[in-house]
Amino acid sequence: MRSIKDIEVSGKRVLVRVDFNVPLDNQQNITDDTRIRAVLPTLRYVLDNDGALVVMSHMDRPKGKVVDKYRLAPVAKRLGRILGLKVSMAPDCIGPEVKRMVDDLKPGQIVLLENLRFHKEEQENDDAFAKELASLGDVYINDAFAVSHREHASVSAITKYVKSCGAGFLLIKEMDYFHEAMGNPRRPLVAIIGGAKVSSKLGALKNMLKNVDKFIIGGAMANTFLKSKGYDLGGSMIEEGLVEEAGQIMRQAIASGIKFYLPVDAVVANQLDPKADVKTVPIQEIPKGWMALDIGPATSRLFAEVLDNAKTIIWNGPMGVFEMDAFSRGTISLVYSVANSYALTIVGGGDTDVAVHSTGQSDRFSYISTGGGAFLYLMEGKALPGVTALERAG
Ligand code: 3PG
Repeated sequence: MRSIKDIEVSGKRVLVRVDFNVPLDNQQNITDDTRIRAVLPTLRYVLDNDGALVVMSHMDRPKGKVVDKYRLAPVAKRLGRILGLKVSMAPDCIGPEVKRMVDDLKPGQIVLLENLRFHKEEQENDDAFAKELASLGDVYINDAFAVSHREHASVSAITKYVKSCGAGFLLIKEMDYFHEAMGNPRRPLVAIIGGAKVSSKLGALKNMLKNVDKFIIGGAMANTFLKSKGYDLGGSMIEEGLVEEAGQIMRQAIASGIKFYLPVDAVVANQLDPKADVKTVPIQEIPKGWMALDIGPATSRLFAEVLDNAKTIIWNGPMGVFEMDAFSRGTISLVYSVANSYALTIVGGGDTDVAVHSTGQSDRFSYISTGGGAFLYLMEGKALPGVTALERAG
């Protein structure tokens, strides 16, 4: 796979696929611009080397239709402010008007195409659509790690129609950190897996059986594992259909020498509500009808001890319903335990990076991925279609 550095960008129209799928509030204000800032090195590199930038992204899932609240105008504004440049907003991502705008572009100028997913052909990996996008650049750069697990036109098919294709700095950094953590890790390698559902993490758990030294399991998914050990978890969320499989994974891990840690206590509530009655109990004593919504303080201490000698930590998924104050302490405490470690620390995106950012500890992590689904894909041991496409393109 070629890097942007291997490709001449001077005097060229450089078509860069980014992931500007950023969170917006009801007034269309961007509430977290991490994904915009993450691609600045690539964008600045093109501008500094006299290239003209044509930037393209999706926003949310408009299902092939124009949906006003998913327009990229707020992103163009924020990007312009950060770069100190005018970012022209195209009315669409293909068509004669867009072509004219791009043809008029001078080196050092930048245009942002409208949401790619306003065309259903984007998600269909449609060749004709990819060809039209490709006609807007002399060079194609993929710097959209977070969507590189999607076989979409702007990520995959497009590489067939642009002569010079390469990876941007963010995509390279994401892949390098992941491979440093999982490929040839400094040991012990600890994987912390949390979140609500075992079903969404089964592939990752199974794949990671191959090379982790310790598993820490938290979040509601831990309930399914605990159930397989015979505990009564009251009214907690459990994926009944996966109890057997969770038990098998746990036994397989233990049999192959992996240390497997589950919560020993929980913060429980009588309903999922910020105003619910809340108490902390040993995992054996969850009252009938009450739900485990966070790990308890004894578990936080246990997990901190487990992390104490870690040399590599890879973390995906919160320990509880951390969006609600009453159930956020376990995740926050884990943020500090990971930050305080001497390990290489990698955090997968999605909810986990929100938890880390909210504590102000981001700078104390080695790397926080911009990808949620894409990061999980790598944890499952799968090749990203966006990366495969670049490799094929040579
Ligand atoms: C993400 O937010 O994970 C990426 O932008 C991909 O979005 P998608 O899951 O809608 O493809």
